[in-house]
Amino acid sequence: MDRLKITVEGIEFKNPIVIASGPAGFGDELFKYLSPKEVGAFTTKTVTPQAKDGNPPPRVVYVKNGLLNSIGLQNPGVDEFTSKIAPILPKGTVKIISVGGETPDDFSKSIAKTEMFADMLEINLSCPNVRSSGIIASDKTLTREILLACHSSTQKPLIAKLSPDLNVVEQSRTVVESGIKMVNVGNSIQGAKFNVNTGRAFLRRVGGGLSGPAFLPIILWKVYQVKEAFPNLHIIGLGGVSQPKDVMEYAIAGASLVGIGSEAMTNPMGIPNLIDGIRKLLEDRKMKFEDFVGISHKGGFR
Ligand SMILES: Cc1cc2nc3c(=O)[nH]c(=O)nc-3n(C[C@H](O)[C@H](O)[C@H](O)COP(=O)(O)O)c2cc1C
Repeated sequence: MDRLKITVEGIEFKNPIVIASGPAGFGDELFKYLSPKEVGAFTTKTVTPQAKDGNPPPRVVYVKNGLLNSIGLQNPGVDEFTSKIAPILPKGTVKIISVGGETPDDFSKSIAKTEMFADMLEINLSCPNVRSSGIIASDKTLTREILLACHSSTQKPLIAKLSPDLNVVEQSRTVVESGIKMVNVGNSIQGAKFNVNTGRAFLRRVGGGLSGPAFLPIILWKVYQVKEAFPNLHIIGLGGVSQPKDVMEYAIAGASLVGIGSEAMTNPMGIPNLIDGIRKLLEDRKMKFEDFVGISHKGGFR
């Protein structure tokens, strides 16, 4: 019996592990350490209409149990991506292309250009490191317009990547109202780190996005809240996963799929072990991963 397999939005994932957008770029580094066939899905770095150099360095700093980054969506732009990178994206896993931008038109055009290379598309509403006017998801009207524009641009399943800095239940309501059936909870949370010797921030932009084990319980709680409010919405739980138990906690809270971000950058060789650990845990209990999804909302195992 294949205990790890799960079907979401008509797409079959061999296991619930989704490599998250960003830390693994377009996969060339990561997949030197493991085969794409070992993971449930791979998400590309967010692609924007024009190429971006990202923010000036320093833009990554380690903090206790985590990482602060202010990369700023560095990417080659959608046209370079579709001509040179998309045709050679890793094969043998579900491919999710992440799109970003400023306006509904930016998003719908990028989706139109990239959808032929994707099994699913992720709408990045939540990068903390790009807009001076704030995270897109903080503007409800703009978010709604972007989601509707994306929804009418493709038949492929869409995922809205939410901001954990904002109310995730309210953001999910906007997603559900726009007809999209899946959310990613979520992006990194904003934070800062200062140097005691220099009296200055470590990151050039001062603030950055916190990822890694430090914020696992925060995102678990947000996944739980979204599942409680919208039981039919599919959820990717993303934040702080480094062990099999973390993945199972996300499922228990309500996630059907579980993302891995920083860990794919700092410990890529650990990912196959992590997946084996989930398999062993399920075999020991003679259960399927699906049995865990949302179980806390039903009073747990009886
Ligand atoms: C270096 C780095 C780059 C990232 N770039 C993106 C990106 O391009 N698009 C995006 O949606 N999220 C991006 N993220 C956020 C991750 O996808 C993920 O939401 C976050 O790291 C939390 O997961 P983790 O705790 O497993 O790292 C980036 C994160 C890091 C650390």
